[in-house]
Formats: sequence, structure tokens, C-alpha cells
Amino acid sequence: MENQKNSNFLGGVTMTKIIDLSVKEKIYESKKAQISILNDFKLEVADGEKIAIVGESGVGKSSLLNIIGLIDRNYNGEYALLGSLTNNLHTNELAQWRNQKIGFILQESALINSLTIEDNIKLPLLYAGSGKKEFKPEDFESVVDAIGIKPILKKKPLECSGGEKARAVFARGIIMKPQIILADEPTASLDMENRERIVTLLFKMNKEFNTTIITVTHDLEIANRHDRVIHLEKADKIDKRRGKFLNVGYFPKCAEYKP
Ligand SMILES: Nc1ncnc2c1ncn2[C@@H]1O[C@H](COP(=O)(O)OP(=O)(O)O)[C@@H](O)[C@H]1O
Ligand SMILES: [Mg+2]
Repeated sequence: MENQKNSNFLGGVTMTKIIDLSVKEKIYESKKAQISILNDFKLEVADGEKIAIVGESGVGKSSLLNIIGLIDRNYNGEYALLGSLTNNLHTNELAQWRNQKIGFILQESALINSLTIEDNIKLPLLYAGSGKKEFKPEDFESVVDAIGIKPILKKKPLECSGGEKARAVFARGIIMKPQIILADEPTASLDMENRERIVTLLFKMNKEFNTTIITVTHDLEIANRHDRVIHLEKADKIDKRRGKFLNVGYFPKCAEYKP
């Protein structure tokens, strides 16, 4: 099963590689300085894999999720998502993919303050219009139950705590049952109980719908519950850790291990 999952062809028809990303570099330019990150970074992800991304602040984790999520296309590299080169996607296709195929739980994902939590969570459904046929009202109920946010559905974001808002952002990110979920430190502001709720639901989506999960986290206990952990490191640090990780030669500036 494991071998089949990682092979390029399943039944000779479909490619099971959902992400095939090769970044030469991502440059941020400001007036004073130029920052180059994700140098020669490669990532291949099989459909249904659970990947954790760890690494110190500023190493490029959020930038990487922005690239994977088609939010940022301004980098030097090639990226195939679901078997299509994203460099060739048209604007309307991009918008549709972001709405229907990718679930974002990003740090800067803001809720709209004038809408109730319920309407915020249902917003992606509104954008999708009739394009999303599989959605059932029970799906909303089950997400709400699993995350434990029924009591806050009629509240506005400003009436909610940070942890409640984080859970609402999470619910909105998964409501479309996307093929890929990108979560940037989704449990950072949560207590133990809610942290466990979120992680359980994330892995349940993976199990039930084969959703590919990519989680950025500083919590090693959570990271180690994924199939693979990608440890992003700045280039000068990697030698000290050589031997502890796999594939150091293949990912020159990032190391990887299986928990
Ligand atoms: N919009 C931006 N403009 C300029 N520099 C940025 C921008 N976004 C991120 N950076 C810089 O790029 C590096 C990586 O940032 P980021 O991806 O947010 O790291 P992480 O999520 O691992 O903390 C940092 O040095 C950060 O300051
Ligand atoms: Mg970040």
C-alpha cells in the first residue's frame, strides 16, 4: 500500500503526486536589503500524505505555504499541483483552485468583523456558488460539532477570544473539504483540549477523505504525528545536524525525517 501510494502511477492512469515543487529561490526586496530564502528547495508530496514543516522563525515556512497555496507566484522555480504546471494557470482557474482545492488556515487569515462566526465559516461556500455540489448542511454541523464552536456561531469575531477565532478560521479552512489543507501554526493560540480537537479533526479529514495535510508547527509532538517532518534550516546550520536527518544531500538547505 505504502509503495503504491508513493508510486507515480496508480492503476496506470492517475498521478498520485499532488505537489511537485522546485524553488530555486524566493527573493524579498525592501529598500535596504534583499532576502533570499528557500534556495534550491524541493518538495514532492503524494496525495493523502501528512507533512509537517518545522524550523525557526524567519526561515521561510509561511512563505513556503504561500507558494504551495498559489497565493505567491513571484519566485524563481517550477510548481506542479495536481499534475498541472501552475505557472500556466489562468487567473480564474487560480481563484477556483484556491477556493475549491486548497483549504487555508494561515496566520494572517482574518475573519470579517461585520459577519457572524457562522457566516464567516460559510463564506467559501458563497464564493463557490453552485460549483460545489457535494456540500451538505450536515457537513457544516459536523465540522462545528467536532471543533466545539456551536456556542459562538452567532457571535461576531470581536466578541470572541483568540482561541475561538483560531478555531473559526480552522472551520472556514476545511468547510469546502479541500484536497489539500495548508495550516500555519493552527494550534499556536489554543489550550490542550482545543489543540487536540483541531489535530484530531485534521487527521480525521486525512483518513476519511484522503486530504493531503501540510502543517507548519513549532510543536514537535504534533509534528511527529505526521508522515514526514520537513525541517527547514538556514544553510549554515545544517552541518551540525548531519546524520540525524535523511536526504540532506537531496535537500541542500532542508533536512527531513520520518518520525
Ligand atoms: N512581504 C515580505 N517582505 C519582505 N520580507 C519578508 C516578507 N515576508 C517574509 N519576509 C522575510 O522572509 C523571511 C521568511 O519569512 P517567513 O516565511 O514569514 O518565515 P517563517 O514563517 O518561517 O517565520 C523572513 O526573514 C521575513 O522577514
Ligand atoms: Mg510563519
